[in-house]
Amino acid sequence: MELRRVAVLISGSGTNLQALIDATKTGRVPVRIVLVLSSREDAYGLERARRAGIPTLVVSPKDHPSRADYDAAIGCALEEAGAEIVCLAGFMRLLGAELVRAWEGRMLNIHPSLLPAFPGLEVHERVLEAGMPVTGCTVHFVTPEVDAGPVIVQGVVPVLPGDTPEALRERVLEVEHRAYPRALDLVVRGRTRIEGERVVVRDEAPGERLLLHPMLARWIRP
Ligand code: GRF
Repeated sequence: MELRRVAVLISGSGTNLQALIDATKTGRVPVRIVLVLSSREDAYGLERARRAGIPTLVVSPKDHPSRADYDAAIGCALEEAGAEIVCLAGFMRLLGAELVRAWEGRMLNIHPSLLPAFPGLEVHERVLEAGMPVTGCTVHFVTPEVDAGPVIVQGVVPVLPGDTPEALRERVLEVEHRAYPRALDLVVRGRTRIEGERVVVRDEAPGERLLLHPMLARWIRP
């Protein structure tokens, strides 16, 4: 299958970017990452991209004070790279509705909760405060509303007694790293279709859109 051209937008450590790099390097997911764009020049994800030989670009809000300018700079960079699909992976800037609409159905995001529960920031803190026994992650198509949009894949993670936000963050990340390649694979193979508010997957196998943390998988086994 021809490789689809994907741009990944980051702001931080880029462990999800690494998971995507690893999945594409082995050919498991038919994608070529053509650009890693960061909103911060000190993002460690840039180093990961350089090591993988992927072109990088920093588009800092400091250099583009207005939202419209910032979005235009990002839009240009995506176009110049010839990106067909965009993955937001820990990208901490809000994108304007116009740019998001231009990429409708072709822009994905990962969020560290089971959306629509717990959108926004400080997710793990709020999950613990609410006393949830379960949390997880969601890969979804991006819509102008933040942390909303049709769900492609979810991963389920247990909350354990005594968890700290940091412990929970790490446990959720383990599943994020499997969920993002899985969702991107469904999209680039043309198996996803958006119907109203939801995603329909062609020839979906039971469980294909659901990942379990290994701990849960162990508990469920008879
Ligand atoms: C992840 O938890 C992701 O769900 C959220 O931001 C974090 C990024 O982590 N959107 P990393 O930079 O991929 O390690």
